Amino acid sequence: SAAEKGGYDYFMLKEIAEQPKAVADTLLGRIDGSGTLLLDEVRIPPSELREVGKIVIVACGTAFHAGMIAKYAIEHWTRIPCETELASEFRYRDPILDHRTLVIAISQSGETMDTLMALRHAREQGARVLAICNTNGSTIPRESDAVLYTHAGPEVAVASTKAFLTQLVACYLVALYLGQVRGTKWGDEIHSVIQELSAISVQVEQVLGTMEPVRELARSLADKNTVLFLGRHVGFPVALEGALKLKELAYMHAEGFAAGELKHGPIALIEEDLPVVVVVPSPRGRSVLHDKIVSNIQEIRARGARTIVIAEDGDETVVPYADHLIRIPPTPTLLQPLVATVPLQVFACELATARGNEVDQPRNLAKSVTVE
Ligand code: AGP
Repeated sequence: SAAEKGGYDYFMLKEIAEQPKAVADTLLGRIDGSGTLLLDEVRIPPSELREVGKIVIVACGTAFHAGMIAKYAIEHWTRIPCETELASEFRYRDPILDHRTLVIAISQSGETMDTLMALRHAREQGARVLAICNTNGSTIPRESDAVLYTHAGPEVAVASTKAFLTQLVACYLVALYLGQVRGTKWGDEIHSVIQELSAISVQVEQVLGTMEPVRELARSLADKNTVLFLGRHVGFPVALEGALKLKELAYMHAEGFAAGELKHGPIALIEEDLPVVVVVPSPRGRSVLHDKIVSNIQEIRARGARTIVIAEDGDETVVPYADHLIRIPPTPTLLQPLVATVPLQVFACELATARGNEVDQPRNLAKSVTVE
């Protein structure tokens, strides 16, 4: 009913708008006044966490994209080797697991069969499993050794939005907590990132306040057949997520690429007026990557692409090559997905509406996939 949607036309719009609160709720009570993480609820004792030799993340769809981003954060802050794998592929390749392997299963619903089967396989091989889940008491956390709940509240729209942002927050908390428990050379950085993470919901709110031009742009592209998404580092999974949202909602051909792969094939797809969304990393963090992406934008634009550039406030280098510029607030490199994904959600939702599609219940899809 209209009341359930809180005055919004679709649950998806409501859930996009709820993201600042979902993010803040997921952080609530987990960071103390001095910037120390309090994750005792993760009931794997620190002594065991210090022994972890490898981390494997399993998930599907949007949760898998959160897991891809988590890999960058975990390996950087903890130096524990981490791999992220599609849950549906995991157990069929006879993965190497033992009691020093920590498997992280990410799932909004907690009922996704592929993810459940992957975690059962991992436990049979002696691995510990930590679930990151949004649904209290669902099967995946019940069958795991430990759980860190995301506090997004119920997500009704089939296309995941607020659950994704809170999965990212939970992944950052786990990565930072492992860094804290094990002690790394990044102690100072961990401390400052924790501070910035505690303030990030304000920045998500800020992005939401500037979305009208994105909606306008989406409407102007309603008759296109294809949209490409490019990103690098944590911007790569963001590009994949932008493309997934567009497939699900707008039923358009959409693909995400790692920008560095362009010259290995995908650049052949570029033609006159093809919309290409590019997620630009901060010029402050890993500035080499920033400059490489800026040259990618130049390359595709020279071949006729219509460039839609998502870049940090104050990044002026992209201005000459952006047909459309979407600004996001500055964040630490690894946290950028929390703000960069939001315009892509709004973009997909508006395109779906403009194409007359059912936003909350896209064709052929179910909210939770309980069959393998
Ligand atoms: C996201 O928009 C999708 N509807 C889908 O990819 C989803 O993220 C995936 O099925 C995993 O679901 P889960 O988080 O409930 O396990």
